Amino acid sequence: MSVLIKNGLIVNATGRYQADVYADGDKIKAIGSDLDYPADEVVDAKGLYVMPGAIDPHTHISMPFMGTYAQDDYETGTIAAACGGITCLVDFDLQQKGESLYEALERKKALAEGKVCVDYSLHPAVMDPRPEIIEEVKQACHEYGTPSFKIFMVYDFRVDDATMIKLLEETKKYGGLVQVHAENVYIVQHMNEVFEKEGKVKEPYYHALSRPNIAEEEAIARAAKMVELTGSRIYIVHLSSKEGLWKVKEARDHGIDVYAETCPQYLLLDDERYKEADWNGAKYVMSPPLRTKESNAALWLGLRGGDLQVVSTDHCPFDFKGKKDMFGKDDYKKIPNGAPGVETLAMLLHTEGVVKGRISLERMVDVLSTGTAKMFGLKDKGEIAVGKDADIVVFDPSIKFTITQSKLHMNCDYTPYEGMEMTGMPSAVFSRGKRVAEWNGDQVQFVGQAGHGRFVKREPFEGF
Ligand code: URP
Ligand code: ZN
Ligand code: ZN
Repeated sequence: MSVLIKNGLIVNATGRYQADVYADGDKIKAIGSDLDYPADEVVDAKGLYVMPGAIDPHTHISMPFMGTYAQDDYETGTIAAACGGITCLVDFDLQQKGESLYEALERKKALAEGKVCVDYSLHPAVMDPRPEIIEEVKQACHEYGTPSFKIFMVYDFRVDDATMIKLLEETKKYGGLVQVHAENVYIVQHMNEVFEKEGKVKEPYYHALSRPNIAEEEAIARAAKMVELTGSRIYIVHLSSKEGLWKVKEARDHGIDVYAETCPQYLLLDDERYKEADWNGAKYVMSPPLRTKESNAALWLGLRGGDLQVVSTDHCPFDFKGKKDMFGKDDYKKIPNGAPGVETLAMLLHTEGVVKGRISLERMVDVLSTGTAKMFGLKDKGEIAVGKDADIVVFDPSIKFTITQSKLHMNCDYTPYEGMEMTGMPSAVFSRGKRVAEWNGDQVQFVGQAGHGRFVKREPFEGF
């Protein structure tokens, strides 16, 4: 299968230029002017951008959580991803008690088998840090192709600081990257007790108040100190607050290797959403919670300036009806934490970031693809260049689309971005040279196949 994309504007993180792109099989084989290779498919990309497919390094596919499951499986989740211009995702793989990291990876890979529609990889989340698990970091980095490890500083399955130190030391030796969900558990527990005593548990807004910015700020500061101690590196997931960003920046300014991602919800939505009537505020219950507009603005600057290197989604969908509106109706603490987002990532970043002048087109490509590939050792992805995987998004910056749940593919009955007007949508999406999604004049439709996606072994961290 070969494809020739003619007359497009190639956009990489390093710049843009007009050229044709020829892909044969899985790979980009040639880039140049007036290419005339015979091809199975020719795409006229005049007036369109030709960009590397987005990579979402933070999804929760079929994840058991808070008494229920994140609803997208590998088929629905990657159909949605493809329709949003995402050609690779790195999903979390939560280690169960007693499991090795290898067993956890095999268990999750079995869920993807025959279903996954675009390429994927896995981050083991260390939840049962037995000594042999810490030792397994070496194999995960050098044999399994999964050199990134999530830890939680909060929730029942959190790890303590001693475990964090051990993991940092081990990942430093073998080229691993510890990813941290940074919230101070004692602050959250204390606030929960306060609201419990005051009888303030029946409104989603208290979810936000129970997890104040300082909970994130303190946890990031502490994690950064562990990095300073060990000389290792760390990656903060779903960074949400301006105070958290300041701690990341402070560490980086002192030469401490703290990296971070944020997500569209923290750039675009604020905590007023929790006040929506009819329990609608529950739709936005996630951890960390939505913050204020000041944090939104600070995070855009962090992205622009480079203190944030990646935008991910934290895609973790639970229906509103039957889940968000039922669980926790009498207690905000029981509302399943998480929201859908894998399909809307690129369109939101283009409309709200590029069109509104907050970031350049090149920076968008960097934080959605090139930087993400580099951060997570996806050496064949993240760039329109000869030899790279033909994971290509032909993007039409002129398409108008109003986000609405019924035109999306995620297995969730709502989107947090309902009614938002988008400018620019994927016109055609290729995963290793195969067309998987296209704009049909009304919405993006999936035209790929379940089972096309492959597990990608990633390389150890090489520095950033
Ligand atoms: O609320 C969230 N973020 N749910 C998903 C789990 C996590 O902590 O990333
Ligand atoms: Zn998390
Ligand atoms: Zn998450």
